[in-house]
Amino acid sequence: MATYANIDAFVTKHLLLDLTADFDASSLRGTAELQLERRDPRATEIVLDTRDLRIQKTETASRNGPWTATMFQLDPATPAFGSALRVTIPAEADRVRITYASSPSAKGLQWLTPAQTSGKKLPFLFSQAQAIQARSFIPLQDTPAVRMTYDATIRVPKDLVAVMAAEATPGDKGSGVFRFRMPQAIPSYLIALAVGDLTFKAMSDRTGIWAEPAMVDAAAREFEDTEQMIKTTEALYGPYRWGRYDLLVLPPSFPFGGMENPRVTFATPTVIVGDKSLVALVAHELAHSWSGNLVTNATWSDFWLNEGFTTYLERRIVEAVYGKRLAEMERVIGLRDLAQARTDVTEPGDRTLQPDLKGRDPDDAYSVVPYEQGALFLSFLEAKFGRDTFDQFLRRWFDEHAFQSVSTGQFLAFLTNNLLSAHPGAVTDAQVQEWLHTEAIPSFAVMPTSDALEKVEQARDAWLNGGSVESLAKTTATWSTQEWVHFIDSLPRKLSAERLSSLDRQLKLTDSPNPEIAHVWFRLAISNRYSTAYPAMERYMVAIGRRKLVVPLYRDLAATPDGKKLAVKIYAKARDGYHPVAQSTVDALLKPT
Ligand code: BES
Ligand code: ZN
Repeated sequence: MATYANIDAFVTKHLLLDLTADFDASSLRGTAELQLERRDPRATEIVLDTRDLRIQKTETASRNGPWTATMFQLDPATPAFGSALRVTIPAEADRVRITYASSPSAKGLQWLTPAQTSGKKLPFLFSQAQAIQARSFIPLQDTPAVRMTYDATIRVPKDLVAVMAAEATPGDKGSGVFRFRMPQAIPSYLIALAVGDLTFKAMSDRTGIWAEPAMVDAAAREFEDTEQMIKTTEALYGPYRWGRYDLLVLPPSFPFGGMENPRVTFATPTVIVGDKSLVALVAHELAHSWSGNLVTNATWSDFWLNEGFTTYLERRIVEAVYGKRLAEMERVIGLRDLAQARTDVTEPGDRTLQPDLKGRDPDDAYSVVPYEQGALFLSFLEAKFGRDTFDQFLRRWFDEHAFQSVSTGQFLAFLTNNLLSAHPGAVTDAQVQEWLHTEAIPSFAVMPTSDALEKVEQARDAWLNGGSVESLAKTTATWSTQEWVHFIDSLPRKLSAERLSSLDRQLKLTDSPNPEIAHVWFRLAISNRYSTAYPAMERYMVAIGRRKLVVPLYRDLAATPDGKKLAVKIYAKARDGYHPVAQSTVDALLKPT
């Protein structure tokens, strides 16, 4: 387990934060008060998770009593989990308050200079707590097994706006003080904060966009179907239980596509491409409001309960709102990503649904395997029991485990009791076990297919067999992002320089404004050393910090000596603009051998 917290002795029920965002020092500082439930009457210390925090003072109190200083000790740090903070607790105390400051290199925060924002005038700060980075900006019990409510006061420079993944309580405009309340009990990885030149634009009564002023209109257009997605998901899986659902569009250095912070999904701007073709991201993060935020993986080895379920739900939402054609393309593309991930992964256990994380930072085991293998498993169950039965089963799973953290074992028991034993013979225990433990796709899986992508392959073959690039261009005129991505990704990895450049000239791939299309094109360019694309690729890698889009480019480049030289040169320009988690991934890839 990726935590030092002694949760057998104490659990946090409520958290009170009073933090100042100090942009000059790149530090979040102030106090965190943990209100505790004691589970072991004899315990004399509470152990909290921290990483690179400067601890100034620790105090304890009991109910209405005064605060008194208490002793603490900070253990030596481990690279995987940070430092355990041991705070002495008297027998009657039920709260602890820590005065602290985060480090400028806190792994869960990115401090952006004005130049790294779209407005160019004001700085920006955002947090990313999943999986175990909350401890780099708050000392707490950093495990998804513990759920707490919280209140926060955030103090920022007067010209900036603070947004938390919580309910905002109206304050004085321009005062630089923002107050938030999170009335539903959540795990620590869902605590989130952003500070910047943020404005808000409503899309419906309960949905809207937070973004820098230059982005907000384009985002509101791209994501205008969000309300419809919520209604769709509610009809399938029960009420949305979090009040509002807003999206916060971050600068392009955001290391992920999206993060399901409750009430406010954090999202990359790289999905705003003008035709809504990448809004499955919203379906995904929204789906986490059921699978993940409501019913949460108890440990990071149970991550597939969050991501596999969410990937399955995401495609159901896409299917209901945008139709089967797009959903099928997403399922097939997911399958290809799964195969790719299984070859990229180096730990065999990481090819299964439940990686062994003993002693490891869960981030180091991150891959799409739990997403896609998990979604395939659920699609298999859907096919075997029928959609209606399976929908009812999932709805019950969410209802009966709402606001709980659950293990894979609990899911398997629920599956046996509610589905398998009610329909004997449809699915065997051995099949379920194989889904969990195999490093491959089971032979009895129910595989997705896509007519649309088969047409893409026909167009590809026609061109590869000597068809003209002009006639190819007629076909591609109506393609969505998914079709483009599939086309480029399914081309042979080696093409003649002449074919590549005629493709590029006709279809304008090097200059594609669509980051997903540009990504697969650059990978093909690297594999062919098609250097015409390199200047655009370099600009892309400097401008974008989303790990999924840039890391494979570094990995591909690093495979040859010349490529590695170019990668190192580009990274020298890009690194400062990357988030700490992206930096550590690329650092590891490019370290001298
Ligand atoms: N919760 C994840 C992001 C995450 C996972 C952050 C683990 C840190 C550790 C989020 O829901 C997610 O899966 N995002 C995807 C996009 C999605 C459409 C597959 C991403 O960021 O690529
Ligand atoms: Zn997810």
